[in-house]
Amino acid sequence: MSIRIETERLRLREYERGDFNALAALLSDPITMAHWPAPLDETAARAWHERALDHYGVPPYGRLAIELKTGEYIGDAGIVRSVVDGRDENDLGYIVHRRYWGRRYGLETARALLDYGHRLGLVRVVANMASDNTPSVKVAEHLGLRLERVFRNPRNRNLETRLYVSVGQPT
Ligand SMILES: CC(C)(COP(=O)(O)OP(=O)(O)OC[C@H]1O[C@@H](n2cnc3c(N)ncnc32)[C@H](O)[C@@H]1OP(=O)(O)O)[C@@H](O)C(=O)NCCC(=O)NCCS
Repeated sequence: MSIRIETERLRLREYERGDFNALAALLSDPITMAHWPAPLDETAARAWHERALDHYGVPPYGRLAIELKTGEYIGDAGIVRSVVDGRDENDLGYIVHRRYWGRRYGLETARALLDYGHRLGLVRVVANMASDNTPSVKVAEHLGLRLERVFRNPRNRNLETRLYVSVGQPT
């Protein structure tokens, strides 16, 4: 069964083949992606999309499309298995297109995914972001995540990076 998470204003759902252009427009936007080493080009966006499509059979299932209830695509988020500061983690990530910033869609998305992850049985979920990525830091803190440590991130220009953690109850 395909993943669908409904919140008050949003729907998180699995990507489909036809979503590529919307995803690529998000990932190539230089302002939205200012905290990445660079916006993603078409090849990198294609790889991101394919990786998402390939992971739906494998918990924690990977990246999802975020859309308004009208069906309008506004961003990308998910929990993926990833190496963060040398350790395998369930890594929560969220990207909202800059056109939709400031309406707490980021927080609404992240909260729904975190609940979903813990319901899936993930005990430890982390979120990491450059320390100067204030909106993302605020999302993590509003979610009630705990700042576990600060490290230099070799995967993002050795920037000072915060690692936040949520430890849920095993189900
Ligand atoms: C992080 C992100 C998802 C937040 O989405 P959003 O829907 O705009 O978030 P919110 O509306 O919940 O705002 C988050 C907080 O950041 C604050 N904020 C927004 N822009 C800010 C800025 N430039 N400086 C300081 N605070 C800022 C908001 O006031 C809000 O804080 P508050 O709730 O205490 O008022 C969004 O900024 C984004 O997609 N950024 C680019 C991708 C990214 O960096 N993702 C995280 C990677 S780790």
